[in-house]
Amino acid sequence: MFNFPLWPQQASAQARQVDLLYIYLLLLSGAITFAIFLLIIYFSVKYRRGSTAIRTNPPRGHNLLEWTWIVVPLGLALFTFLLGAVVYIRMERPPSGAMEINVIGKQWMWKTQHPTGQREINELHVPAGRPIKLTMASQDVIHSFYIPAFRIKQDVLPGRYTTIWFTPTKTGTYYLHCAEYCGTSHAEMGGHVIVMDPADYERWLAGGSQQQGLAQEGAALFRQYGCSGCHGTNATVHAPKLEGVYGRPVPLEGGHTVVADDQYIRDSILLPRKDIAAGYPPIMPSFQGQVTEEDLLKLIAYIKSIGVAESTGSQP
Ligand code: CUA
Repeated sequence: MFNFPLWPQQASAQARQVDLLYIYLLLLSGAITFAIFLLIIYFSVKYRRGSTAIRTNPPRGHNLLEWTWIVVPLGLALFTFLLGAVVYIRMERPPSGAMEINVIGKQWMWKTQHPTGQREINELHVPAGRPIKLTMASQDVIHSFYIPAFRIKQDVLPGRYTTIWFTPTKTGTYYLHCAEYCGTSHAEMGGHVIVMDPADYERWLAGGSQQQGLAQEGAALFRQYGCSGCHGTNATVHAPKLEGVYGRPVPLEGGHTVVADDQYIRDSILLPRKDIAAGYPPIMPSFQGQVTEEDLLKLIAYIKSIGVAESTGSQP
């Protein structure tokens, strides 16, 4: 049977929107190109050598015509921008109940880790029908996380977190690629996303060796790296308490305020002089080069977990 798919499968909730936008752009640019070719042919015939067409081209004003070619393309461009912006904004904002999975790119593999602690290499198991939010970082150079069937692609950068989300709609196995040239084995840096029935996913999570949850692993690291020496509940050093800090505004030395998100906690560990919490001496040492990307994400998961425990009582 003749099989020549023009599009990858649509296997996520946003795939249709992206495809519709793409088809719209294709039709619009196709129509403009077609009109230009028609005019080229028309004028080539009209002004061919030897034709009797008038070539004096007397200057004359035509306000309606001029307004038309200003307003129509402007309107088309703004409409196109609007369509793209709507899809983009939807894709950039993960819903609050999304399941969070960590992704680390390195030369040349993808490492993923589930909140319950399961780790995978070049594979990602997810349940169908649930929004999944990926928090991603690179251990070395720039990579790009690309799942064509989900129509998502996001650069993965060293030194900062990027996120992307999707809701898989169909069970099955889909390709995962690195879409940013990252060295010798870039072409082999890929794998599979396996979308499972929610029940199968639970079974998959339960199987395999007994794992600790991310936050628990983070708690162990919190002691191992000595964080608890200053930030622990019984510490005598004057350091900010971290319970309940996640997701809350933190007043900084110098008067401004930041929200304690993943990036802020990451920077506090690696670049403690960047943002100093108001009222605390700048004595936090930098852990740059000592904490791996995976451990950073575990520490953040731990801080997030003690934050959530604190805030559930006070916030609806
Ligand atoms: Cu990683 Cu290309």
